[in-house]
Amino acid sequence: MKRIAVLTSGGDCSGMNAAVRAIVRAGLAANLEIIGIQKGFQGLIDRHYELLSTKSVSNILQRGGTFLQSARCKEMREDAGQRLAAENLAGMGVEGLIVLGGDGSLAGALALAQRGTAVIGIPASIDNDIAFTDMALGVDTALNNIARAVDNIKDTASSHDRAFLVETMGRNCGYLAVVSAIACGAEYSLIPEEPYDLDAICQELRRRYQQGRSNSIIMVAEGAGNAQKIGEQIKDKIGFETRTIVLGHYQRGGSPTVFDRLLAARFGQAAVEKLLAGEKDKMLGLKNSKIQLTPLEEVIAAGIRPIDKLLPRLIDKLMI
Ligand code: F6P
Repeated sequence: MKRIAVLTSGGDCSGMNAAVRAIVRAGLAANLEIIGIQKGFQGLIDRHYELLSTKSVSNILQRGGTFLQSARCKEMREDAGQRLAAENLAGMGVEGLIVLGGDGSLAGALALAQRGTAVIGIPASIDNDIAFTDMALGVDTALNNIARAVDNIKDTASSHDRAFLVETMGRNCGYLAVVSAIACGAEYSLIPEEPYDLDAICQELRRRYQQGRSNSIIMVAEGAGNAQKIGEQIKDKIGFETRTIVLGHYQRGGSPTVFDRLLAARFGQAAVEKLLAGEKDKMLGLKNSKIQLTPLEEVIAAGIRPIDKLLPRLIDKLMI
């Protein structure tokens, strides 16, 4: 193997730069040429790429986002786009491709694998909704961003006896809302995976306020409903002030945590090592602290990674 390529696709996340740095350094150490494709699969279709050197990846480890840039590429969902992408890779002399991204990007990686490209996927998405990995790249940084925001919100909430609804990202997965609720001492987390009873929540909030509690935090996963509307419903039902904050893309940026930097280094180096060892069409994952490989086909067939049911129960147990 002489030449490999790397691309970052879908929603960016912190740790992508650190992973690309690890890929370039591990690749150069193995005498490979590494091509960086810009703007994900879109760049592959449009043939936007550059040869990467140690200089290209210097001083990026600590930066959020992705210097290769990313895109959501509609063409890659269609046959013609996938064919063109595979042809372009062959035209560039690329013998192995590393794709960093979430479920949609890994589906794109699988499509290329089925067209004969040797692909290794790296799970990278703040949602933590990818099966066969305990943690995806970027999740820990996003959780730390959320925790910082909620800690600040608690200061102002308790100064005014207010209930705050804090909406997190995560698409159809409630992982960010559940884990940040535990980490920040929130009273509730509303997630798409579990039904919730707003009347019961309101009764409980009222009881807490009657006991003299000065604030309540309700984490709302974006897939569980519109936090603004839920906040208005709560206000109508219990009659005291609520405020809503949608954390949005704030969650996705910022310098990666040490956990994400380490994961990026391990995933990046392993991706090169596995390609060189002849592995292909698989996704790297972190299972019980070990790096493992799962066929991309199985990852995509598994769909959204289920939430550990003990996590929401932990919130219930701590909410007295
Ligand atoms: O998949 C990552 C994610 O941040 C989701 O949590 C969110 O729903 C979506 O991307 C937002 O997408 P965009 O950045 O295209 O608005």
